[in-house]
Amino acid sequence: MSNKPLSLEEQLKVNDLTVRFYTYEGIVKAVEKASLKIRKGETLGIVGETGSGKSVTALTILALTPSPGRVEDGNILFRKRDSSVIDILRMNEHQLLQIRGKEISMIFQEPNAALDPVCKVGEQITEAILAHRLREMVEKSIEVIKKEKDNEYDLWTRLETWTYKEMLNNPSDVRLKIIQKIPIIRDITKRRLRQVIRQEIVELLKLMEIPDPGRVIDAYPHELSGGMQQRIVIAIALACSPLLLIADEPTTNLDVTVQAQILDLINRLKEKFGSSIIYITHDMGVVAEISDRVAVMYAGSVVEVAPVKELFRNPLHPYTKGLLESIPRPGSPLKSIPGTVPNLVDPPSGCRFHPRCAYMMNKCKEIMPRLVKVSEDHYVACLLYEGESDD
Ligand SMILES: Nc1ncnc2c1ncn2[C@@H]1O[C@H](COP(=O)(O)OP(=O)(O)O)[C@@H](O)[C@H]1O
Ligand code: SF4
Ligand SMILES: [Mg+2]
Repeated sequence: MSNKPLSLEEQLKVNDLTVRFYTYEGIVKAVEKASLKIRKGETLGIVGETGSGKSVTALTILALTPSPGRVEDGNILFRKRDSSVIDILRMNEHQLLQIRGKEISMIFQEPNAALDPVCKVGEQITEAILAHRLREMVEKSIEVIKKEKDNEYDLWTRLETWTYKEMLNNPSDVRLKIIQKIPIIRDITKRRLRQVIRQEIVELLKLMEIPDPGRVIDAYPHELSGGMQQRIVIAIALACSPLLLIADEPTTNLDVTVQAQILDLINRLKEKFGSSIIYITHDMGVVAEISDRVAVMYAGSVVEVAPVKELFRNPLHPYTKGLLESIPRPGSPLKSIPGTVPNLVDPPSGCRFHPRCAYMMNKCKEIMPRLVKVSEDHYVACLLYEGESDD
């Protein structure tokens, strides 16, 4: 297994990830030695046909490989907010809880699945904020008191401020526990915190370009359109300013206009929050619009990685060439890659693309190509480029 360390500019690196599913039909070799890196603040598009291992890779980055999947090899290095580097695959559940939703967030294709149908939108965002940003909200509450009261501190205000400070600095203090049992103090602090969080949510929803945030906060998910629900899911994912946002086909079920709005929104939010983004899609058009760099996956492996313009101008892997030729263009006949995605219980030997490849050579049936560097920032896994530098 290669164990390439993270350089300072990198947020995440997946090295030789191998995931298998042990099913009654056999062992599904879903992800095979997949390698990726994501730089700080960039959007990496991951593209490939259905079944190419995009979702399994994304979920494994959160250590949420679906059952009965098993990570057989590889590591996933992540640079935390405090700059320390961890291997996500070697964290325990407690450590992972500090990462998920806080440092790495994920949004899925189906906003419905991410939202609780019996819980109002505002309550769901509140939960995310309380889980990850309580300290900041308590600090904001102290600021609000200072602004409101100026210098005339009465006993209640002093007690309230003291309570917040203890919540931050000394949460297990017995005196704090006693004070919080006094109903009037408990009610005042709760009310103020709730107001501060509500204000925060209104700001977040405005940022999501959600009209009438006051109404949306008090709505149930089913009262909103699919596009609006997906904006809420994005708001929840961004509530804690994650270092990395993973979006798994988040616009696939939305109509084209809403899809364009959401892409535009994600692009602008990236600039505001400075998060890195992994954007997964099967649509080359979407990739062109959103990515800085693109990783192409085929049958469980990353077969080409390049900056978006370079990939479209100079695709090297025969599969990438096929994908680009199959983008519908007005006036020209629709081309598709011959053949189908292989069954991953019994994948083709050597290069998994060989049964569909117009450039296939004898050795392609035996040797599994590795990603090699062909030019600055352009990598390909194909035996036609063998002998290029391995980096
Ligand atoms: N829970 C599961 N059980 C068995 N096989 C699975 C499971 N989840 C995914 N797979 C298999 O893993 C492969 C990759 O799937 P996936 O990552 O979902 O593809 P993509 O997101 O690119 O469409 C597929 O062959 C799929 O059948
Ligand atoms: S390794 Fe061989 S079969 Fe695979 S893509 Fe390259 S030329 Fe085609
Ligand atoms: Mg998927």
